[in-house]
Amino acid sequence: TDLKPLHSFRLHGKAHEVISLKHISQLSTLPQQAYVLGEGSNTIFLDDFAPPIVKVELKGLSIKETEIHWKVSVGAGENWHNLVSELLNRGIFGFENLALIPGTVGAAPVQNIGAYGREVSEFIEIVYAWDRQANRLVEFTKQQCNFAYRDSIFKKDAGRWLIVEVKFAIPKQWQPEVSYGELRALGSPVTAQQIFDEVIATRRRKLPDPEEIPNAGSFFKNPIVTVAELQELLKKYPKMPNFDLGDNKVKLAAGWLIDNLGLKGFSTGQAAVHKNQALVLVNLGEATAADLLLLARTIRGKVIEAYGVELEAEVRLLGRQGLITL
Ligand code: EPU
Repeated sequence: TDLKPLHSFRLHGKAHEVISLKHISQLSTLPQQAYVLGEGSNTIFLDDFAPPIVKVELKGLSIKETEIHWKVSVGAGENWHNLVSELLNRGIFGFENLALIPGTVGAAPVQNIGAYGREVSEFIEIVYAWDRQANRLVEFTKQQCNFAYRDSIFKKDAGRWLIVEVKFAIPKQWQPEVSYGELRALGSPVTAQQIFDEVIATRRRKLPDPEEIPNAGSFFKNPIVTVAELQELLKKYPKMPNFDLGDNKVKLAAGWLIDNLGLKGFSTGQAAVHKNQALVLVNLGEATAADLLLLARTIRGKVIEAYGVELEAEVRLLGRQGLITL
């Protein structure tokens, strides 16, 4: 099977076998070594791929209410943005900051997707995951998911868990989140629809549409440093954006670090730094894995040299047998 349509970065390659997972009755029959994939918007296949690929297509949406919450249960294979729109249309607010994030509902908890001041973990009550080692369904409470910035138990223990369904608890008492960047200008009062529209407009302005210019969103994670390290960096780069995480930790903006080195638009072969957002690497059309790896490693090297900060991939990079690091 052709790998290209299975991942949004659209490198060429061949898959050995692709299995569509449409019903939970199939779970116990999945091959042990199979790789679990949603819409492929955060995974890049660098080579032909030997293990079978399981494409999660479990569907379903059910909404219940308690006095203070909407309880929304969603199949892992539902499209994330469709869910955000659907909830907004039903007058259930909270997800609007997370509009237009590519991918599936089941992938959302894995890397704890987040944007414009919200992270999906804020709304998660339970994640139902299939334990592929013990062949049984396990319920993870939000605490058990070990959520952190772009991280969860499902990411660390890659391969063991296949997320089947996510249950969200969304407070009926809506609190708008407009503290991030361009949302601040919305002022108050503000509606969820206005936030949704502004997030979409901002994303369209900065981020390349994967349907037009293949990409996998932010290629690197925003690095986390200590307050002392930040103080040193600010002496040389007084304008460096930073976000206090408490606990003596500060998050830097990898996009700024790269942009500040003049690398917007920089390319190696057909792989390039996006011209409007330096954290996103794009495929100009016929990029090869070698183009992309050279670009990513060159950027990583320049960032270490300039700031002493080591960037890590935010996307999952897959070689012939499985995950690789830069
Ligand atoms: N910046 C630049 N130049 C650039 C890019 C960014 O100077 O080329 C500066 C911006 O001006 C801003 C700061 O860096 O001061 C942060 O930029 P931005 O708001 O665009 O967000 P980001 O930190 O680059 C993160 C997420 C995005 C998410 C946005 C908005 C990660 C790895 N990325 O990007 O998520 O949409 O915040 O909340 O955390 C993704 O994960 O794929 C993704 C797109």
